[in-house]
Amino acid sequence: MQNVFDLALRWASIAALSAVLLTGAATAQIEPAAEDKPENYPDAPHRESTFYFCSACHGFKLVAQQGLNASRWNEIIDTMEQKHGAAETRGEERDAMVEYLSTAFPQKQKPGWRNPFQE
Ligand code: HEC
Repeated sequence: MQNVFDLALRWASIAALSAVLLTGAATAQIEPAAEDKPENYPDAPHRESTFYFCSACHGFKLVAQQGLNASRWNEIIDTMEQKHGAAETRGEERDAMVEYLSTAFPQKQKPGWRNPFQE
């Protein structure tokens, strides 16, 4: 009967983990999805694909608030994969999103001001 017990334990931990993941997804939703649409953001190549990829988990406004260069945007997408379980993107698909993000939301440049979070 050892196996049955093991199985029950396994199901219990899967249920607990799902609860944690579901709660996380709920708190990440900061914008009402219906009002968030690609047309709200700067028009540049790959806008739609980037919008739908990123807004699967959170409002795109959270993305649009940032101003970063291409390498920092690339790191952000790595973080979404590694920390938040976003689908893996490499090659053309990744390049397209980085291109849109760094065109639409580029690193803000003000003379004499340095963002301490950017190199
Ligand atoms: C699988 C889910 C998922 C996907 C897909 C996703 N993110 Fe996130 N992202 C999250 C979670 C969860 C947070 C933390 C949410 C919060 O703090 O409200 C987050 C937070 C962020 C933040 C805030 C800064 C930070 O590091 O907390 C930025 C910027 C961001 N995401 C950018 C993006 C971009 C750009 C994309 C698309 C290329 C994307 N995300 C796709 C889950 C995701």
